[in-house]
Amino acid sequence: MATISQSNPTVPLTKNEHLLRWVEKMAELTRPARIHWVDGSQEEYDQLCEEMVASGTLIRLNQDLWPGCFLARSDKSDVARVEERTFICSLSKDTAGPTNNWENPYEMRRKLRGLFRNSMNGRTMYVLPFSMGPVGSPMSQIGVQLTDSPYAVVNMRIMARIGLPVFKEIDKDYKRVVPCLHSVGVPLQPGQKDVPWPCNSEKYIVHFPEAREIWSYGSGYGGNALLGKKCFALRIASAMARDEGWMAEHMLIVGVEDPNGQKTYVAAAFPSACGKTNFAMMVPPEEFKGWKVWTVGDDIAWITPDAEGRLRAINPEAGFFGVAPGTSVKTNPNAMATLAKNTIFTNVALTPEGGVWWEGMTEQAPAECEDWQGNLWTPEIGKKSGVKAAHPNARFTAPARQCPTIDAAWEDPTGVPISAIIFGGRRADTIPLVYQAFNWSAGVYVGATMGSEMTAAAAGVVGKVRRDPMAMLPFCGYHMGDYFRHWIKMQRSLTVTPRIFHVNWFRKDNNGEFFWPGFRQNFRVLKWIIDRVHGRTRTKETPIGWTPFYEDIDWKGLDFPRDKFEELQTVDRPAWKREVISHEELFILLHAHLPPEMIYERELLICRL
Ligand code: OXD
Ligand code: MN
Repeated sequence: MATISQSNPTVPLTKNEHLLRWVEKMAELTRPARIHWVDGSQEEYDQLCEEMVASGTLIRLNQDLWPGCFLARSDKSDVARVEERTFICSLSKDTAGPTNNWENPYEMRRKLRGLFRNSMNGRTMYVLPFSMGPVGSPMSQIGVQLTDSPYAVVNMRIMARIGLPVFKEIDKDYKRVVPCLHSVGVPLQPGQKDVPWPCNSEKYIVHFPEAREIWSYGSGYGGNALLGKKCFALRIASAMARDEGWMAEHMLIVGVEDPNGQKTYVAAAFPSACGKTNFAMMVPPEEFKGWKVWTVGDDIAWITPDAEGRLRAINPEAGFFGVAPGTSVKTNPNAMATLAKNTIFTNVALTPEGGVWWEGMTEQAPAECEDWQGNLWTPEIGKKSGVKAAHPNARFTAPARQCPTIDAAWEDPTGVPISAIIFGGRRADTIPLVYQAFNWSAGVYVGATMGSEMTAAAAGVVGKVRRDPMAMLPFCGYHMGDYFRHWIKMQRSLTVTPRIFHVNWFRKDNNGEFFWPGFRQNFRVLKWIIDRVHGRTRTKETPIGWTPFYEDIDWKGLDFPRDKFEELQTVDRPAWKREVISHEELFILLHAHLPPEMIYERELLICRL
């Protein structure tokens, strides 16, 4: 990150005519009080944080306990992504597909122009250039976010590479820039006092995949406001990837190093609330001396075939925007070390010492704290009222470079070679701990039919399986059936196809207890996967794929009886027949665009059952 700071942020930091003209046009539309060209320096970041402390948007934490850390409290109506207000405005409704909210792009543009007209009155418009992926990498993409939220600017500085080096890149070699316009939608009249967290009750998170544009209105939170993340790196990038022959996926990336120093990289897709960040920072059990899991990314992978026909992946992000509740030194010591400094917390509780707390962080709750809305909270109040100290979707925004297990190649501009892809979900029954798909197209079927049980935290019937293909249901910028076709087609550009696996840490026994201890014990499964990739172990063939022999899982240090393992791995044919029938629900919805391979794989699976 450049440390040179500009003396006058109102002076444009680019000579790029297209960019200058667009900024001018958007300023004419939104009419901000001033324009600030973001250089990305530490001084600028410190200054913005200082201003937000003064305005009440940020609370500076006790710097002895939490150096460089701040707490933000959002408006209570602006606490998460808003899927029902997220739109894919492709020219044809058919291109967006039935799983996306579609609106006619012409009508939507008219609507947005109305909403954004004068929306930045009285505020500063920040011109924030960002690179998703290392600056200058052939696998990276550049965006420019115009925003009236300084909170978005400081969070984006953690989550992406921003500022002068990116302007230089834009000027050097005119790469296509994705324009991202963002406003919290609360213009200020002269003399009007601002609120700590401005947002509008009307929200629009809008993507134009053909024009490669993002317009986000009304929210200051996370995926709605940090436009490099879900909006660009998944929804827009998935459309770019389809057109250009690569993949933008909702996947973590880890490197598994064996005691000989050989490293094998895998990518894994899990729906939310299935422990992706924990997996990305896994600590192998103590008995596995010399084994290490290195973190490349915890949320998004951009994957491209290289000249040799191998898939290589980068993490387009530079930080972690992780869910705080449930994170502790027990469940994820590496995350705790990562967020110990230079972190922006949002909607966690504030302790009397000026520290932060959230449910699950320590066994014992603090005797007293301020909850995420600033009200007095004690364990008794919590018990009586059911109010949580931290919002369940409270977050930490922390720099990836602070992660103790960050991989040496995490910023390699050519990415890391991917040898295996893992899909997973939360399933109490039917799905074994681990199995390997027979081949690429069978693996695509496994990913396409991935499902996860809904938890009490989400609206819907608890325990009902929601299909979330490749964990991309809320993030694919086009028709899901075409997305499966793209996956199938990718094999043609590969000479070595990664092996595809499915895992399920959440199967329960007849007493309703989890079979599997989870967390760091998951490493035993990961090690078997690595052994499979290198052809070091045999497998048992079942109708759904290849499964491990009991002897081939390394059990040292864990008492896990053979019969329990066999039960956990059972492929119950009647249950699987029901499972395959339930795949139909999604396939019927997508049928007009479903690639024939999905039908064939389904038929083959039915025959094997
Ligand atoms: C996230 C999500 O925030 O998937 O990463 O919702
Ligand atoms: Mn995610």
